[in-house]
Amino acid sequence: MQAADRLTKIPPYLFVTLRNKINKARAEGVDVINLGVGDPVDPTPQSVIDELCRQAQIPINHQYPIDEEKGMLAFRQEVARWYAKRYGVELNPEGEVLGLIGSKEGCHHFILGIVNPGDVVLMTDPGYPAYRASIYMASAEPYAVPMLAENGYLPDLDQIPADILQRAKAMFLNYPNNPTGACATRAFFSKAVEMAKTHDIAICHDNPYSEILFDGQERLSFLSVPGAKEVGIELNSLSKPYNMTGWRIGMAMGNKEILTALCKVKENTDSGIFNAVQYAAIEALRKEDGNITRMIEIYSRRRELVLKTLEKIDLGLKPQKGTFYLWIPVPQGTTSIDFTTTLFEKAAVVVAAGTAYGRHGEGYIRISLTVPDKRLEEAMDRIQKVFQA
Ligand SMILES: Cc1ncc(COP(=O)(O)O)c(C=O)c1O
Repeated sequence: MQAADRLTKIPPYLFVTLRNKINKARAEGVDVINLGVGDPVDPTPQSVIDELCRQAQIPINHQYPIDEEKGMLAFRQEVARWYAKRYGVELNPEGEVLGLIGSKEGCHHFILGIVNPGDVVLMTDPGYPAYRASIYMASAEPYAVPMLAENGYLPDLDQIPADILQRAKAMFLNYPNNPTGACATRAFFSKAVEMAKTHDIAICHDNPYSEILFDGQERLSFLSVPGAKEVGIELNSLSKPYNMTGWRIGMAMGNKEILTALCKVKENTDSGIFNAVQYAAIEALRKEDGNITRMIEIYSRRRELVLKTLEKIDLGLKPQKGTFYLWIPVPQGTTSIDFTTTLFEKAAVVVAAGTAYGRHGEGYIRISLTVPDKRLEEAMDRIQKVFQA
């Protein structure tokens, strides 16, 4: 049986390839340390687990979720409260908030709800690989705007050709950014809003790292910029702030027409989020902001450790201020893939090659700070030894 043509354009998903490589090495007895994936190993807060267990005992929660594709009103109200408290953004839980099965689901269904085959969708290079895949699955055409260090890893919107802007129907943005860790400015978001208004482009700001910030960087929602709700939505998620990647719960907020389209796709695709998970998420949003503070302390400590090691091996850098990733230039004279291979073969340390995020990722690797302290220390020792040898 032949798979659909649209899938042939999608490269193998980076983390599936990495997982296969790691499993093979581990089966051969190699003690591999994986710094390639951004998946917190620290547990979900206990009160959230307790609430899940309590709600799972209640038979009504075993049926299809309340308000299915929209997410239950109590969850949407809690999201609205969280957004007002954390980002100063006012949202109407009726029409301006939707529950999601994680922000990745939102990215995909946003595209299916908004673009027609052949439309152009703007994204960045480097950028989160799932955007490109979703664009292809909708038979649309990605246009990758370079995101360069000299521009603070913000795409230069003035460089997008006029004919592309004319054909563009949607754009993905993502700050704090995976993979670079860069944060956006209010001025940049305002410029994106202006561009979107002028060219009738729907913006999807994917913001799952909104809480993972360092060095006094302020939280920023795209929706807090004047005019943003007229042109776009923001996605967010409980995955990263509350160590809940496996729970699969997130939210979409903002423009009512875009959310209606997204909701129509969901109505016909998934039937929403398990009620017990939604109740547990309410508990997290209401009571567990302390977990975010605790995790920032942990990531800060790990970030310092990696930065110190990089300095010792002459790869020192001034880090960006967001996400639990470090975007690191590789030594001169080598490539992303070569350096990644060296670290794997000589130190059994897995990092993500920058090119997995686009061709402008050449010359970089990405390290994730989501492994336990002891393993990260071990990984840094091994990397240092490779350089000393
Ligand atoms: C930019 C970006 N968007 C979305 C996701 C997926 O998040 P979620 O777990 O909410 O689906 C990730 C996960 O790594 C990500 O890096």
